[in-house]
Amino acid sequence: MASQPGFSIEPNPNPRTDAEREAELACPAFGQAFTDHMARVSWRAGEGWVERRIVPYGSIELQPAASVLHYAQEIFEGLKAYRQPDGQIWTFRPFANAERFTRSARRMALPELDPQDFVAAVDALVRVDQSWVPGGEGTSLYLRPFMFATEPFIGVRPSRSVEFYVIASPVGSYFASGVAPVKIWVEQETHRAGPGGTGAAKCGGNYAGSMAAQEAAYAHGCEQVLYLDAVSGTDLEELGGMNIAVVMADGTIATPPTSGTILEGVTRSAIMQLLRDRGAKVEERPIGLAEVIDGARNGRVAEMFACGTAAVVTPIGSLHGKDFSVTVGDGTPGTLTMSVRAELTDIQYGRAPDPHNWRHRVV
Ligand code: COI
Repeated sequence: MASQPGFSIEPNPNPRTDAEREAELACPAFGQAFTDHMARVSWRAGEGWVERRIVPYGSIELQPAASVLHYAQEIFEGLKAYRQPDGQIWTFRPFANAERFTRSARRMALPELDPQDFVAAVDALVRVDQSWVPGGEGTSLYLRPFMFATEPFIGVRPSRSVEFYVIASPVGSYFASGVAPVKIWVEQETHRAGPGGTGAAKCGGNYAGSMAAQEAAYAHGCEQVLYLDAVSGTDLEELGGMNIAVVMADGTIATPPTSGTILEGVTRSAIMQLLRDRGAKVEERPIGLAEVIDGARNGRVAEMFACGTAAVVTPIGSLHGKDFSVTVGDGTPGTLTMSVRAELTDIQYGRAPDPHNWRHRVV
């Protein structure tokens, strides 16, 4: 196993056999299988970041009093490594994830990890477990960096010991239905985030607070929840795990502004850039639920899509709420949605030039 600059390596004594790994890579579901190793970097108050290691993937020992288990002082990221036509492996805008991670850390009073160190840890893990990067259509290695408070102390204050890990999972589509249009449950009882809250941070607590609404979505036959803003209760914010965009019949693309309550999506910003490059009119503005419902009924709204690292670009087929149901367009994948999905994935998989230098070579 090749050495990785700055990282000690403890090889997994029981890695999966080639046949076992190939079976996992043949048709990977989202986030169910994990590679043989993980990256681990520790932080202690007064010492800073220490002990950069690649270790066997496995259980983490924590004291029951570890503060993450009580007060959820935790943040995470999501990015992917893509196998290219010539076998090389590249990630997509890893420094954008690294910078968002430092913003999340600041918001949650966790120590900041230098973006160079974040990317070095991701790269080291991908190089060590490079045989786990699948090559099938629409597959990739999903990388999940995360940081959490480990100090065994149940007083409420920032932890004095923290761990940063990166784990990796071969994945296909996030949604079991692939890129088929998804049904969205519009949550009108609870909110994901409010002004001054943690909505823009990628912290586990935001997702914990979304589980009850996600359950309601499943109960209504929907795959995802759409949240409305907490102040007026009228405007679109984001989905439970991804951003949202609306394509008007005149070709304008609208997406809610990142004004503190929604996640600044890396995929969202790449897509809006690609659309602007085409000369499309992109509006980052408040979008009323009423505008979208009326627009879907009268044809002013032509398409809607979800976007995120996990979701890539996924068409939205219909919206459902406690007193309405509307089909978006004719309920099939929209033309603009599918074309921007193809444009983005062609860059990510190295099938097209990369005019914004978003790709980062790992192997
Ligand atoms: C991602 O798209 O990477 C996310 O973090 C969404 C997720 C919670 C699956």
